[in-house]
Amino acid sequence: MNPTLTPAWQQLAAHQAATESIHMREQFAAEPDRFERMHERLPGMLVDFSKNRISEETLDLLCQLAEQTGIKEKLQAMREGELVNYSEQRAALHTALRLPADAAPVYVRGENVVPLLHQALDAALSFAEQVLSGEHKGATGERITDLVHIGIGGSDLGPQMAALALQRFWRNVRVHFVANADDAAIANVLAQVKAETTLFSIASKSFGTPETLLNAHAARNWFLQQGMKEADIRQHFIAISTNHQAVQAFGIAPERTFAMFDWVGGRYSVWSAIGFPLMVAVGAERFREFLAGAHAMDEHFFNTPFRHNIPVLLALLGIWYSNFYGAESHAVIPYSHPLRRFAAHLQQLDMESNGKHTTAIAGEEVDWQTGPIIWGEEGVNCQHAFFQLIHQGTRLIPVDFIVPMSTPYGIGRQHRFLVANAFAQAEALMRGKTFDEAYASLGATPEAERAELARQNVFHGNRPSNTILVDDITPYTLGMLIAMYEHKVVTQGAVWDINSFDQWGVEYGKVLAKTIEPELAGEAQPAHDSSTNGLIAYFHERQSR
Ligand code: F6P
Repeated sequence: MNPTLTPAWQQLAAHQAATESIHMREQFAAEPDRFERMHERLPGMLVDFSKNRISEETLDLLCQLAEQTGIKEKLQAMREGELVNYSEQRAALHTALRLPADAAPVYVRGENVVPLLHQALDAALSFAEQVLSGEHKGATGERITDLVHIGIGGSDLGPQMAALALQRFWRNVRVHFVANADDAAIANVLAQVKAETTLFSIASKSFGTPETLLNAHAARNWFLQQGMKEADIRQHFIAISTNHQAVQAFGIAPERTFAMFDWVGGRYSVWSAIGFPLMVAVGAERFREFLAGAHAMDEHFFNTPFRHNIPVLLALLGIWYSNFYGAESHAVIPYSHPLRRFAAHLQQLDMESNGKHTTAIAGEEVDWQTGPIIWGEEGVNCQHAFFQLIHQGTRLIPVDFIVPMSTPYGIGRQHRFLVANAFAQAEALMRGKTFDEAYASLGATPEAERAELARQNVFHGNRPSNTILVDDITPYTLGMLIAMYEHKVVTQGAVWDINSFDQWGVEYGKVLAKTIEPELAGEAQPAHDSSTNGLIAYFHERQSR
C-alpha cells in the first residue's frame, strides 16, 4: 500500500502548502486552550505536542492517514504474533515480553508463547537474584562483585542505556559493558575486575556476531590466564542466545544459557534475558516494574484512539515533518544525566528499523522518505554545543525534550535549573525572536552597529518540539519511555509500508570485513579500488615498522 496514494496524503500535501506560513506564535496567541487540547497524560507521564506546526485539521488529516494506511490492522497483526517481519518470516513480539503471566494466549505458529516467555524470564531473574544474594558464587567460593556484559547492537545498547539510567537503583554487583571490537574496550573493563569475582554474560541472539565472539574469546583467554581453570568457566560465563549449539561449542553449559526467541528483534529485546545486566544491576522486583511500565504503554497504545494515542501522535508528527516539510533529522534531548545513552539506543531502534528503501512485502523501491536521522545528547550540555544550529541553522529539526519532574538527590536548585532550561528552549524554538525584539534588546549597542547585530539576533522560531515529562527516572517510567518510542517507530514503519523488523543493511556490513581481514593479515592479495588497496598497503607499512 503506497501511502502517498491515499486521499489523506494528498490532502496533507495541500494542507501543508496552505498553512506553512502560519507561525506557532500566532496560533498560541489565538488559541488560549491550545495546550489543553494538545497534550496527553498517562499516570507518570505528560506529553505536550502543542508546540508543533499543526492545527486540529492537521491532526485530523494525520489520523486519517493512519486509518487509510491500515495501521490498526498492521499493529494488531504484530500484537497477535503474525509473521509481520515478512522478509525473515518471523513474528515481532516484543510486546509479548511484557505481558503478565496470566495474559490471554499469544500464538506463534500455533504455540502459545506466554508461558514460554515467563519461564525464560523467571529463569533469568532467578539467576540474577542468586548472583545478587551470593547463592551463586565464583569457582573459588568468592561472591560475584562484577558482571561484564559482552554484546553489540541490540544486545548491548538497550541494557547498557537502561542500566545507566537506573544506576541509583543498583544493588551490590557492578555492571560493565563491552561492545566494540577495539581491544581498548575490553582491556579497559578487564583492568577493573578480578577473575575470581567476575561473571561474564555473552549476549548474542545469533551467537555469530564477530565482534561479540572476538570479545567473548578474549574474555575467556584472559580468565584462564588469571589462573582460573577450564572447569571454572561454567561458574563464570553465561550466555543469552537463540543459538544453543553455538553457545555449547563455545563452552557455556546449557543450564547457564538463557533463552531468547527469534521472533524478538535485537533492538526490541531489552525486555528479555538480553536485559540480564539490568536484572543483576537492579534485581528482579525492579526489572518487573520496568516491564510493567512498558506494558502500561502497550495497553495505552493498543487501546486508545489515534487522536489521543501518544506513540501514534508522535509517529504522525514525525511523518508530518519528514514527508511534508522535508525534515531530515529528529533530535531527542533528555534533560537527564541518567538518560545520557538514551539517544544512542533510539538511534539503533529507529534507524535500524526504518532506514529502509523498499516496501515491506513486495520489496519495491519507495518514492517517499522513510526513517529520519535520529540524534541527540543530554541537556543541558547540548545547549552549549549544537543547539545553535537547531535555533538559527537553515534546517528544520524537530526536537523531543524529555524531562523528569524530580530527581532523588535534592542538590541545591540544580533540578529546577535543568527543567527551566528545557522549558525555555522549547519556548524559544517555538516563539523565536523578531528583528524588533532583537533591536529593542540591544539598547546599549552603538546605533551604527545596532541593526546589524539585531539581524544576527533574529530567531525565526516556528521550530517544532514535543515535551515529554516523566515523574522521575524509575524502572517503571523508563519502561514506558522505551516502549513509547518502540511504538512510534513501528507505527511510522506501518504508515511507510516498510519492514521495521529486518536489517539487511547491517547484515551486509557484517560480511564486508571478512574479505579485508585476511588481506590485512597478509593471507590474501587485496583486489579492491585504489583507495582501499592504498589503505591496506599503508596498514602493512605501519605494522612492519
Ligand atoms: O549489527 C546488526 C545486528 O544484527 C543488530 O541488529 C543486532 O542487534 C546486533 O547485530 C547484534 O546481533 P546478535 O545479538 O545476534 O549478536
